[in-house]
Amino acid sequence: MSTKTKIAGIEFDSYIFNASGIKDDTFEELEEIAKSKSSAIMLKSCTIGPRKGNEEPREINLPLGYFQSEGLPNLGYKKYLELIPKLKKYKKPIIASVVGFSLEEYRILIKAFQESEVDLIEINLSCPNIVEEGLPIVYDFEKIKELLDKISNLGEKPIGLKLPAYLCYVLQEKMVNLIEQYDIPFISSINSVGNSLIIDPEKETTVIKPQRGFGGLSGDYIKPIALGNVRRFYELLKDEVSIIGVGGIRTGQDAFEFLLAGADAVQVGTTFEKEGPSCFERINKELEEILQKKGYTSIQEAKGKLEYL
Ligand SMILES: Cc1cc2nc3c(=O)[nH]c(=O)nc-3n(C[C@H](O)[C@H](O)[C@H](O)COP(=O)(O)O)c2cc1C
Repeated sequence: MSTKTKIAGIEFDSYIFNASGIKDDTFEELEEIAKSKSSAIMLKSCTIGPRKGNEEPREINLPLGYFQSEGLPNLGYKKYLELIPKLKKYKKPIIASVVGFSLEEYRILIKAFQESEVDLIEINLSCPNIVEEGLPIVYDFEKIKELLDKISNLGEKPIGLKLPAYLCYVLQEKMVNLIEQYDIPFISSINSVGNSLIIDPEKETTVIKPQRGFGGLSGDYIKPIALGNVRRFYELLKDEVSIIGVGGIRTGQDAFEFLLAGADAVQVGTTFEKEGPSCFERINKELEEILQKKGYTSIQEAKGKLEYL
């Protein structure tokens, strides 16, 4: 039994790999992911220059998830470009993740990774912990269109989009229009859920310092939202675009639910943070057992098979 899958035509040895931003910013951390059973090496979202991120305390482990406003601490894209050749020896797909603060920055970042040895490029359109002027780009479809116009012809590597939790179906339809118009080959859905707030009732305070305590929520709390987003995208896109599910995957059963909803693979963030790199093998084994028990012989056979009552 194998959970081999394909994203945008690239082969992945299993259905499970790491989500961007969790223990993947330094070479040591990336090497740990490379040596684990994660089927790919997903890099931390990087920006043009290195960033220290937001002021501390900026993250807190919760019973059923994680809450943070890290603000994209990363080494800057040039450092990740240097690390890629060293990661190549592990023979797994390498996925870059980029965040620009202007269209020109996006152009520079994407051109650089197009000329590198990465296999896929993910544009993180949906970081909830960056304060933008006006409407965040991910809700501004005109601006996304401008971005896609600017970066579409910079190289041959597949470019995907990391999307937020859309709480309204119409916004997903608008996104799908752009995905189809620009032949976007893959999407990752969802990022941590922004505009969330955790309160310490004893101290009567917020629990993190940046942005007056508002931050992004991940883990079990957000799984139903992620499943809903993945399923809607699957209904709209069918098999034409690879969908990577992310949000609250902790067990093989969670992964199986994403598979039924239509995901081609899943990324694991909070569980990796809490459990360490052994989680990739454990979740994959649990998924294999479920598939075997149910008589499925491949990922493809079960994908999208959710039935309606
Ligand atoms: C500490 C932390 C840092 C994150 N940084 C990034 C990031 O740099 N880029 C990104 O696309 N998503 C980032 N995310 C979001 C995760 O990739 C993922 O979409 C989200 O946490 C939901 O998955 P999970 O429930 O498995 O954690 C971050 C999440 C956490 C908890």
